[in-house]
Amino acid sequence: MEQTALFGKGWGLLRIEQKINVSPLDFDNRPIGVFDSGLGGLTAFKELRRLLPREDIVYFGDTGRLPYGTKSRETIIRYAGQDVEFLLRHQVKMVIAACGTVSANVPVDFGDSVPVPFTGVVAHACAAACAATRKGHIGVIATPATIRSGAYEKQLHAFAPSLQVTSAHCSLFVPLVESGFIQRDNPITCMVAEQYLSPLRDSGVDVLILGCTHYPLLAEVIGDYMGDSVTLIDSGRAAAGYARDFLTQRHMLADPGRGAGTNRFYVSDSIEGFSEIAGIFLGETIRGEVSRVAVG
Ligand code: DGL
Repeated sequence: MEQTALFGKGWGLLRIEQKINVSPLDFDNRPIGVFDSGLGGLTAFKELRRLLPREDIVYFGDTGRLPYGTKSRETIIRYAGQDVEFLLRHQVKMVIAACGTVSANVPVDFGDSVPVPFTGVVAHACAAACAATRKGHIGVIATPATIRSGAYEKQLHAFAPSLQVTSAHCSLFVPLVESGFIQRDNPITCMVAEQYLSPLRDSGVDVLILGCTHYPLLAEVIGDYMGDSVTLIDSGRAAAGYARDFLTQRHMLADPGRGAGTNRFYVSDSIEGFSEIAGIFLGETIRGEVSRVAVG
């Protein structure tokens, strides 16, 4: 049986208009593929694990080539293509680019060349932000490449043209996260956060999109600085919610009669560093095999 899926249109929302084979069995035990430049995509992974405990998940963190957010658009697109190709070798049924930088910089028709459903994070985060704002003033923090692309602003204005949007890049957040400086009382991280976030706090936003999937690992630091009146939007988490809805509607979830889903993690650099910080973020020792691979 074939159905046509329309994932949305416009900049920052990865457009997918393709034929999808719907399983006649009404379930699909292939894994979900998730990728990011490093640890950030674990924000989507964590939420997927919570929402869809029976799904197998294959995660790729391109730690050997991180950060993406300071690279040129051409390089980001090339890396994204190679990351998707790697996941497709694992027979995934869906690919989630759990990376704001990739989502914001690939062309809108990028998903057309991917033979399975493909989505990024930008549109889902923007939809969540629009639902949360009361003042109509939304802040966006992300990597330099994402802010430069203007993808979040374009998507927010496509949803609601009258929104006020204030954006800032926070380039040091990704290295801080990858170095494990994620504790709420870490003085260096708190100082860096103040430097980046003070214009946003002063501007009076009531919703702040964490437009890079690494940033929710600093949610406590960011939340403490911005204050309780500002709602933080986790872009990876928003994309995971979308993936759950999509797979449910398309009868593409794993067999409900099976046991707990498995995790496979792949990184393109040291396994140790990744596993340690992933464990802190996930709140438990990483479950599932972690392997080092060469991509590209
Ligand atoms: N986690 C990524 C993002 O969402 C990439 C960060 C980076 O590699 O610079 O933008």
